[in-house]
Amino acid sequence: MTARIIDGKAISQELRAAWKVRVNEIKARGVTPGLAVIIVGEDPASRVYVGNKVKACAEAGIYSEHIALPADTPESVLLARIADLNANPAIHGVLVQLPLPRHIDSNQVLEAIRPDKDVDGFHPMNVGALVTGNTAFPPCTPSGTMKLLEKMGIEIEGRHAVVVGRSNIVGKPMALMLLHKNATVTICTSRTVNLAKYTRDADILVVATGKPGMITGDMIKPGATVIDIGINRMPDGKLTGDVEFESVKEVAGYITPVPGGVGPMTITMLIENTIQAAERAIIRN
Ligand code: GUN
Repeated sequence: MTARIIDGKAISQELRAAWKVRVNEIKARGVTPGLAVIIVGEDPASRVYVGNKVKACAEAGIYSEHIALPADTPESVLLARIADLNANPAIHGVLVQLPLPRHIDSNQVLEAIRPDKDVDGFHPMNVGALVTGNTAFPPCTPSGTMKLLEKMGIEIEGRHAVVVGRSNIVGKPMALMLLHKNATVTICTSRTVNLAKYTRDADILVVATGKPGMITGDMIKPGATVIDIGINRMPDGKLTGDVEFESVKEVAGYITPVPGGVGPMTITMLIENTIQAAERAIIRN
């Protein structure tokens, strides 16, 4: 058996086609949706991600501010920039790219973003809303994954979903979203003893550990859906996921490639959240 490839790029394109109408409707009300993206430091991967986010804004007809701060920026300066953006009516979404340099307290920074401009969905208020089943701003990578499952017609209710990884950005919100769709959810980490015991029982396996190739074909239930959220740059410059694609695709029913799987969906969902933030701002005013 060879798995069907879940083409995140094609599904992204399909969703992006609907942006134009929504953005034009917002502009007809005299508002241009605006997103501010802040990056602190020189992390090469973060710079690529931020560049892609800014590019997607242009493609969608959204105004964007790209704020690049040096790695030694004091936390107080970053907080002051966020306060300005919170008060700026031209900005509907504020995103601080993670990870931040070690001298900055990420939680403090994420809590400083106005919850109604928190298009990443990382503010504790939006995290709390996700726990109780309200999806004010669903975090982009897990919500992009849910969209892929929906578009591929993959059944979630009653199935065993195993999430490997427990980050605030992906693992935890992913597990909650699957739970809200009535999956039976197991959360593992890269340190779970006998990980294969759990992964082999997964109807849906979502992997977000940042450990290249850690999931191999012998760890998969035949016909399972395998979602690879890892993006790892190898010494030869190639991108690879947390799933060993070649062996897993021989056992799985569906699989996301890296690149071209979940990655494009993350940015698509970010733009969707930004458009929604602008729509809500119009309703409020
Ligand atoms: N770093 C890795 N993924 C993300 C994301 O979705 N949002 C932000 N802000 N930083 C990230």
